[in-house]
Amino acid sequence: MSTQTASTQSSDLLRFITCGSVDDGKSTLIGRLLHAAHALPDDQLSALADESRRFGTQGDQLDFALLVDGLSAEREQGITIDVAYRFFATARRKFIVADTPGHEQYTRNMATGASTADLAIILVDARKGVLTQTRRHSHLVSLLGIKQVVLAVNKLDLVDWSRERFEEIERDYREFAQRLDFEHIVAIPLSALHGDNIAQRSTHTSWHQGPSLLEHLETVAVATADTSGPLRLPVQWVCRPDLDFRGYAGRMLGGKARAGDAVRILPSGRQTRIARIVGFGGDLAEAARGDSVMLTLEDEIDASRGDVICAAAEPASVADQFETTLVWMDDAAMLPGRPYLIKLGATTVGASFSQPKYAIDVNNFDKLAARTLELNGIGVVNVSLDRAVPFDAYADNRDMGGFIVIDRYSNQTVGAGLIHFALRRSQNIHWQAVDVDKQARLRQNGHRPCVLWLTGLSGSGKSTIANIVERQLHALGVRTYLLDGDNIRHGLSKDLGFTDADRVENIRRVGEVARLMVDAGLVVLTAFISPFRSERALARSMVDDGEFLEIFVDTPLAVVEARDPKGLYRKARRGELSNFTGIDSPYEAPATPELHIDTTQQTPEQAASRIVDALFERGIVQRHT
Ligand code: ADX
Repeated sequence: MSTQTASTQSSDLLRFITCGSVDDGKSTLIGRLLHAAHALPDDQLSALADESRRFGTQGDQLDFALLVDGLSAEREQGITIDVAYRFFATARRKFIVADTPGHEQYTRNMATGASTADLAIILVDARKGVLTQTRRHSHLVSLLGIKQVVLAVNKLDLVDWSRERFEEIERDYREFAQRLDFEHIVAIPLSALHGDNIAQRSTHTSWHQGPSLLEHLETVAVATADTSGPLRLPVQWVCRPDLDFRGYAGRMLGGKARAGDAVRILPSGRQTRIARIVGFGGDLAEAARGDSVMLTLEDEIDASRGDVICAAAEPASVADQFETTLVWMDDAAMLPGRPYLIKLGATTVGASFSQPKYAIDVNNFDKLAARTLELNGIGVVNVSLDRAVPFDAYADNRDMGGFIVIDRYSNQTVGAGLIHFALRRSQNIHWQAVDVDKQARLRQNGHRPCVLWLTGLSGSGKSTIANIVERQLHALGVRTYLLDGDNIRHGLSKDLGFTDADRVENIRRVGEVARLMVDAGLVVLTAFISPFRSERALARSMVDDGEFLEIFVDTPLAVVEARDPKGLYRKARRGELSNFTGIDSPYEAPATPELHIDTTQQTPEQAASRIVDALFERGIVQRHT
């Protein structure tokens, strides 16, 4: 069998990202670079010449901005790709540039492109200098572990090629960047529009001693993939063509692998040795970080997708709570306590965040108090996962310690984070085994426990209906408890208001209390607006299957407004009460509730009977109770 190595020589390849907006000249810059490297095919070049004549702003000259803008417009219509990777090459090196739309709200795309880059070009308009956006992009670039930065001071023609202006911007930037984690910053004066200092050094800036942009990109030292760390192979796929063969396939995120190496599989911790390394063309003697391979193991060990094969002597850690730096990338703020999904390596796991320890002011590094993270916000936040997963600190391994956050409903990436360390506290708190358990209480009570979760607008009739249900159940000898919105807000949730973040926390607490009461064997009734489906789903997930009945008390806004028992809708309409559900705060109606009660068709007594009947039908309460 032929033996080969899958490792690729990567120092002749530079991956970089450009940060800046179209206004800063980003498209023009990329267009210029592609042109200088003769990377534009003839047909694209003649199309560009044609479009420049028709739409360009540069007279007879080629308008390079059209080139890249045209592509990004296509992209925006397709909406499938956030980042476009362009390949080009010169005699000295190959390049991959991650091009991302440049508006401030596109941090998300930037993070995607930056996660594999070796270098970042930070573009600044010479007339405007270092802006908040420049600082924000630099923070992100630094957080993502990029060490090499080019400060491209563009549009120098518009400030008369002023050396003073260039040096002033360079000074400003270096002073700011001192506190970031860069190893190397090179400032280059440019006019992307006229091509100055792009490929050749410009006569307009004879005072500039450094290289042109392309020269720098061709010669800057690039770290080759670091294979010095310990072996990490997250299992993407288990291959079992027949009973005799079991292969674990994935991309190596750390170290090297050789047949015979001792490995440990996490999270189980089982130990064995590598039997074979199978590459695309046959068996390999060795594989290294970055390679996609399949391993077979000496012992039959049950490893599944998301498990990580590690060097036995230096395994990754396993934990379910971390301190992290989180960058938020969604228009809807991060809400502490809300259930999200986190994708870490090949694992996707449920997660929620704590209130930020602090948010970071990107301009001056101040630590700010924050209750949530807004779009583009950066902060230090604790994360709690539904189960323990293998990880490394981001500082040790970019791939094993970086994660993205996904919204459970839209499936959109809404954030990105880096793990600092695991929180010890989760390791020191254990479940206490108790002798009197749910089963024992069930036998004594004579009925099963459950949550009757009533949701609907303020004034929809939740409390009225819940009250009747509780009376009827009580008369039947069922042990019940009613948790009511207004009452809970006098005690348990006294500290909370009606912002989205506070409502999330309110419902999280009610969910936890309901869970305890279910464990105590009760039929729990809850009457809260509970406007967000995420937190209703969270409350549902806290109890066993079949123990949660979502009951939508459906009363149209016009009807509750006409009733307005507490006069709150009138107040809200007058602008005296803000964040009022249905007026200036959303209500997400349940799509598939267990019971849907239309209060315009049923009296509260009829609605209550339906709920009690549902308990009989589901065998939660027996007829003879
Ligand atoms: S929830 O959104 O967190 O579930 P909850 O059910 O506890 O709300 O409280 C709703 C009750 O608080 C309403 O019935 C109403 O009496 C009162 N209330 C006061 N301010 C508001 C507001 N801005 N929005 C909704 N309800 C409010």
